[in-house]
Amino acid sequence: EKEGEKTLRSPICCIMGHVDSGKTKLLDCIRSTTVQEGEAGGITQQISASYIPVEHIRERTKELKADAKLNVPGLLVIDTPGHEAFNNLRSRGSGLCDIAILVVDIMHGLKPQTIESINLLRMRKTEFIVALNKVDRLYGWKTCRNTPIGKAMKQQSKDVQREFDHRVTQIITQFKEQGLNTELYNKNKERGETYSIVPTSAISGEGIPELLLLLIQWAQKTMVKKLTYNSEVQCTVLEVKVIQGCGTTVDVVLVNGVLHEGDEIIGPIHTTIRSLTPHLMKELGGGAYKEIKAAQVIKITAQNLEHAVAGTALYVVKPDDDVEEIKELVMDD
Ligand code: GTP
Ligand code: MG
Ligand code: NA
Repeated sequence: EKEGEKTLRSPICCIMGHVDSGKTKLLDCIRSTTVQEGEAGGITQQISASYIPVEHIRERTKELKADAKLNVPGLLVIDTPGHEAFNNLRSRGSGLCDIAILVVDIMHGLKPQTIESINLLRMRKTEFIVALNKVDRLYGWKTCRNTPIGKAMKQQSKDVQREFDHRVTQIITQFKEQGLNTELYNKNKERGETYSIVPTSAISGEGIPELLLLLIQWAQKTMVKKLTYNSEVQCTVLEVKVIQGCGTTVDVVLVNGVLHEGDEIIGPIHTTIRSLTPHLMKELGGGAYKEIKAAQVIKITAQNLEHAVAGTALYVVKPDDDVEEIKELVMDD
């Protein structure tokens, strides 16, 4: 790292949208996992996060020959439920992210939780990209596995292209009714004013390259200040889970700073970190680390985690801190 050169942390991206639009499947497609198939009733009922290293993103986008300098270490993605019952989790997810993917099913257009998601993003002034998902369901779609959507569209028949254009026009109109300008990513000359739409298939992977590249490029271009690494610990509890053999554990999103084994932490709980394990993509393997730098999703084991509360901040006690004072501050949160 050169003197004076700023280090960027990974952008935090949440995936939002109506139930069954394909949020989890898109993540599975990006990470090569099969989380969605294991979900009860095919419905996401919790918020979860995972880390995608930049090398993986470089690999997935290489066909675009964008020659882009990717300066971030990776992308941290947060999956949220689309079922209407979980608006608290959608709200929590949107509160944690720097940027978002709004997933819309091309066969169904905007739905109640799409609109709810738009309103959450708008309220927090969060930039987003629309993934117009399930393009493979257009009648007669010719599969072009993991191909850039620009290339895949050229392979389609006139009928498929006509149906595609028709549906895109309708959906752009639906966004307009919500007060939002949207345009297909390759026609969008006014990024920032107009949100980009990337057609995707989470089943066969068309459009994933453009989606990933656009996300990273947009984050790097417009959020340098927000993404500049800061050593002040900023950490939020995502989930409290009982794991056999480990007792109660917490999954946290570390937005800034470094966590160490042995750190004394205060939330509604007060304890010392026993172990830290990052949530990495499966093929990278697991294992505990002595310290982990932001941004990262981390599983923490420690005693007394039973009373940790999802959505609350964790503070790390520094040598000169007054523990009782921090506890009072936390209680006021
Ligand atoms: P919730 O989290 O429950 O809101 O749903 P979700 O948005 O995560 O959708 P999910 O990934 O569970 O996908 C819903 C269904 O749509 C599953 O049966 C998927 O296999 C299917 N699906 C998702 N994406 C695509 C796609 O691009 N093409 C097709 N044909 N099916 C898809
Ligand atoms: Mg899901
Ligand atoms: Na689902």
